[in-house]
Amino acid sequence: MAEKKIIAVVGATGAQGGGLVRAIQADPGSGFVARALTRNPSSDKAKELAKLGAEVVAADVDDAVSLEKAFRGAHGAYCVTFFWDHFSPDKEMAEAAAMAKAAKNAGVSHVVWSTLEDTRKWVPLSDNRMPTLLGKYKVPHFDAKAEANGFFTAAGVPTTFFMASFYWENLIYFGSGPKKGPDGVLAMTLPMGDKKLPGIAAEDIGRCALGVFRRGKEFVGKTVGVAGEQPTCGQMAAALTKALGREVRYNDVPPDVFRSFGFPGAQEIGNMFQFYRDFEADCCAARNVELSRSLNPRLQTFDAWLAANASRIPLE
Ligand SMILES: NC(=O)c1ccc[n+]([C@@H]2O[C@H](COP(=O)([O-])OP(=O)(O)OC[C@H]3O[C@@H](n4cnc5c(N)ncnc54)[C@H](OP(=O)(O)O)[C@@H]3O)[C@@H](O)[C@H]2O)c1
Repeated sequence: MAEKKIIAVVGATGAQGGGLVRAIQADPGSGFVARALTRNPSSDKAKELAKLGAEVVAADVDDAVSLEKAFRGAHGAYCVTFFWDHFSPDKEMAEAAAMAKAAKNAGVSHVVWSTLEDTRKWVPLSDNRMPTLLGKYKVPHFDAKAEANGFFTAAGVPTTFFMASFYWENLIYFGSGPKKGPDGVLAMTLPMGDKKLPGIAAEDIGRCALGVFRRGKEFVGKTVGVAGEQPTCGQMAAALTKALGREVRYNDVPPDVFRSFGFPGAQEIGNMFQFYRDFEADCCAARNVELSRSLNPRLQTFDAWLAANASRIPLE
């Protein structure tokens, strides 16, 4: 039997990387085996990955030696950055640069780099429809990832530029879920108007990435965006109402109002939603549901995700 090709997975104990490790290990016919990178191999999450048969190795993206060692001997590498751990686009770019360098030095044959759009191509800094943040970004965690594409290209590593969409898990963990209004009715407050918001079950991101590694060369040098469905926020509220058995309204607010909410990252996230809203057609076209399903036949719709997860959404 041919030896399996190793896919080194950054962020393996997290949402994107974890989904990829589980997808690889659940498919003995894929020809791949996962090498899970973590800063702490003795954590419960790392141990769960080891139980699935993944090789778990200690590596820190901030430590070039450990990173290159973890990439060595791997056919592929899944590279993701950790914006919400530090809120710093500069740090995010340094993380991406370190991964591109390590992949090049280790001779990795296929990198799948988890990137996003450079929103400044649609909304130049001079465009005042949304504020410029940190002096040179519109949506820092999008723009920095897009800028970092250049590190992979410059390193000459065969790379697929892979774009996720809004995780539906944000309704559980990221404060995007419905909240009770003064009238006691649940409402989901987002600045999306009647536009579609491409979304995905976090677990499906890794499954789609496995599809990209499987199809290999076809996607080298290409941008691949993934989504499970592209509902409007009104449609999401209706689906939530059905799944929870309780009315959920969609409370549409102007982006300026959303940006003024004051929670950490409110301006950044307000700009992000405005980008999705104002450039609906481009954002949806970049995240093709049919392509995503061809990469991952188990791709979930929002209703399917809700059927398994609605009870986990905090409702107060
Ligand atoms: N939320 C969304 O809707 C959405 C949509 C599109 C894109 N994104 C992007 O997704 C990215 C985050 O991915 P995720 O959601 O998969 O992250 P996550 O669930 O927060 O997990 C990140 C994992 O990375 C590891 N990690 C953190 N710092 C590290 C370091 N210095 N070296 C090595 N590993 C490190 C941690 O593992 P250990 O502690 O085990 O080391 C952690 O489990 C962000 O950049 C965000 O912009 C999010």
